[in-house]
Amino acid sequence: MALSLSLVLIAASVVVIGAVAGDDSNGDTGPSAASDPTETPTVRPAPAEPPPPAPVDTFDRAAHSLDDPMSIWVVVNKLRPLTPQDFEPPDLVDVPVEHTNEPLLRQEASDAVVSMFQAAFDEAGLELASNSAYRSYSAQENVYDGDDLTTARPGFSEHQTGLTIDIGPLSGECSLDPCLAELPEGIWLRDNAWRFGFILRYPADKTPVTGYSFEPWHFRYVGVPLATEMHETGVVTLEEFFGLPAAPDYG
Ligand code: DAL
Ligand code: ZN
Repeated sequence: MALSLSLVLIAASVVVIGAVAGDDSNGDTGPSAASDPTETPTVRPAPAEPPPPAPVDTFDRAAHSLDDPMSIWVVVNKLRPLTPQDFEPPDLVDVPVEHTNEPLLRQEASDAVVSMFQAAFDEAGLELASNSAYRSYSAQENVYDGDDLTTARPGFSEHQTGLTIDIGPLSGECSLDPCLAELPEGIWLRDNAWRFGFILRYPADKTPVTGYSFEPWHFRYVGVPLATEMHETGVVTLEEFFGLPAAPDYG
């Protein structure tokens, strides 16, 4: 009898002790919170993420001359005539593409035109033609019509570099006309010429920089690295890209 009473008392003690130990008035079963209810829990801030590295401009803007007429980066505008004024590239070749006037360009630019015309056809079913390419000093004398917004004076035309071509649809629709910008051919050239090393040299809203009104047909070869860099940075004129003075007028 005494033994059973002892067992009952021991069992009751265990129940009471267990109830006290399990009291959870803070709703916090964590060991430290239970030990000191006055302590404010420390909220540790998440470790700061290191800032992303700043993009490094590794493009070498001095890789080619801007002055040498044989340089694929030569900048020709109303303030920067060709030197000498009657410069004629020594490596002109016939450009084997459809055309309205027999096109000549420097070899590297010619190869790029062939690749670009082929891609326009393969990728979009578009047939392109050259309307004008290399023009000598004397040829530019015949082209210049006195309107300085649309034609360059002899010695000041990019066409004299042998790196420039006017392109239109083989159909002739909108050739040398701003309406080319609305045609599939003009849109494809605008969006893809950079892949072949060309830039649209006289954009619509850059007349105060280039000195010429919008020419969606006039493409200048500068090589794939520069055309890609200009495409990716969104700097669309050679003057702005190289930090050269705007050339709205002749000096
Ligand atoms: N139409 C361009 C500006 C030229 O004559 O060279
Ligand atoms: Zn042109």
